[in-house]
This record gives sequence, structure tokens and C-alpha cells, in this order.
Amino acid sequence: MRLDGKVAFITGAGMGVGRATCLLFAYEGARIVAVDINSEAGEETVHLVKKRGGKAIFVNCDVADEQEVKKAIETGVKAFGKLNILFNNAGVLWRDKDFEVTRTDEATWDKVMAINLKGTVWVCKYGIRELIKQGGGAIVNIGSGTALMGFTVAQDAYTASKGALASLTRSLAVVYAKDRVRANIIHPGPVDTPMQKEWDDETRQAISEWVPLGRLATAEDIACCGLFLASDESAYITGTELIVDGGIMAKGR
Ligand SMILES: NC(=O)c1ccc[n+]([C@@H]2O[C@H](COP(=O)([O-])OP(=O)(O)OC[C@H]3O[C@@H](n4cnc5c(N)ncnc54)[C@H](O)[C@@H]3O)[C@@H](O)[C@H]2O)c1
Repeated sequence: MRLDGKVAFITGAGMGVGRATCLLFAYEGARIVAVDINSEAGEETVHLVKKRGGKAIFVNCDVADEQEVKKAIETGVKAFGKLNILFNNAGVLWRDKDFEVTRTDEATWDKVMAINLKGTVWVCKYGIRELIKQGGGAIVNIGSGTALMGFTVAQDAYTASKGALASLTRSLAVVYAKDRVRANIIHPGPVDTPMQKEWDDETRQAISEWVPLGRLATAEDIACCGLFLASDESAYITGTELIVDGGIMAKGR
């Protein structure tokens, strides 16, 4: 029960890393505010949490919309009385329109930034004050290994949004340290989730061979690291970037 008594606000809760995090955090004693733009998926996550004896509510919210995020935070506080953890995980990777900059249109760029970067900004804007009311708390942002290295096949809006999240995380960590609010970011490598459903068997095999640990990450691999950063076990860690990529960065190309 490493999160006993805590309330966690988790975005992108409907599937992948978000769903795994909701299940793990609830197992560890947290009550969950599960936020997603996809109601069916988000409700299913809440159903799974409850089936295992946990407590959760679903809130439909587009994290790109400041007013919707404000309302979602209010709904979470109303339901469980407080917030202790902000887990900023909602993100999009649009391989069909997010390319290298010379081929990416402005609408795509702006929308990816609105979801991947500004979504976290809005959650922090309205959520940090709730953490402060509790005498502190933990922010866990989900970045990406793509923020740390270039690829010849690029999704530059995605990459830049994740790089900006890393900078934002450092700033949050320093500004709110006096309020005992910690902020850290996880940079996952390739994770086996619905986001990567386009990968065929051959691609999955090639990626697995490229990763020193020889496999894709599971959503649970990322959720476990999120648990550490959200719990008091990491009480002295803030402003850090945790690379969870099976050794890719250590190996280089
Ligand atoms: N899967 C990977 O290989 C990988 C690698 C590095 C980083 N990441 C990052 O991890 C995070 C989770 O990724 P995943 O693989 O679980 O993704 P996923 O696509 O499997 O799930 C993302 C969830 O976010 C929700 N979402 C999308 N847009 C939203 C919005 N505007 N408002 C609210 N919810 C929204 C979706 O409905 C979905 O439930 C993302 O930030 C992603 O960029 C993933």
C-alpha cells in the first residue's frame, strides 16, 4: 500500500500506460480520478479498478481544453476531497500527419502541442494548488525517448512537445519545491500499447532486437516507475528525468 490514502489524477487513463497506472496505483491504495477523452475506454478502466476492489471515478475531458481540465480537477476534488498526485500521461502520436518540419502543417503542430504539452500545463495550473493545500504532492509527467535523440523518420511535433515537457518539468520542480511539490518526468522507449498498434510483427521484432534488454516495454514497466516517482519513496527526487527504455540511450545507435 505504497499510496495508501492518496488521490491520483491520471490522464490518458483509458488504455496503455494510463490504464496500467490506474490499476497499479489503486492496488497500492490510491483513489483514482481517471481522465480520458474516450469515455468507453475510461469507463472500462474504472470498471477494472473497481472489480479489483479499488476506488475510482471516470471524468471525460479533453486535456487540450483548459476549461475542461479545470472542471475535471474540480470533479476529482469533489469526489475524493483532495489530490496528491498528478500523472500527466495523455498524449498523441500521429504518424499520418506529424512528420519532419518541412512536411508538417500548422494545424497538426498546434493540435499535438495542445494535447501533449498544454494538457500538462492545464493540469498543473489547476492541480498544483490542490497539491499545495495538502502540504505537497507529486507530479509525474510522461515524456519520451524521442525527446532525447533524433530519428531519420521523424514526428517533430511529438518530439518537440516531449522535449518541452522535460524543460517544463525542471521548472515546475524548482518553482514549487518550496511547497513540497515534486515534479519528475519519465522518458519511455518503445512501449507495447494501443499507440503502437500499427507495428506489425516484423517491426516489433526489429525494435526488440534494437533494444539491449531484447523486448518492448510493457505498460506496467512504465507504471512501476511512475509508482516510485509518485510515492514517498522518491521524497528526495525532483526535477529528474527517468529514462525507461531497456538500455537504448546507453547503447546509442
Ligand atoms: N507507446 C509508446 O511506445 C510510448 C513511448 C514513449 C512515450 N509514450 C507516451 O506515453 C504516454 C501514454 O502512451 P500510450 O502508449 O499508453 O498511449 P495510448 O494511445 O495507448 O493511450 C493514450 C490514452 O490517452 C487518451 N487521450 C488522447 N488524447 C487525449 C486528450 N486530448 N485528452 C484526454 N485523453 C486523451 C487516449 O484516449 C488513450 O486512452 C503518452 O504520453 C505517450 O506519448 C508512449
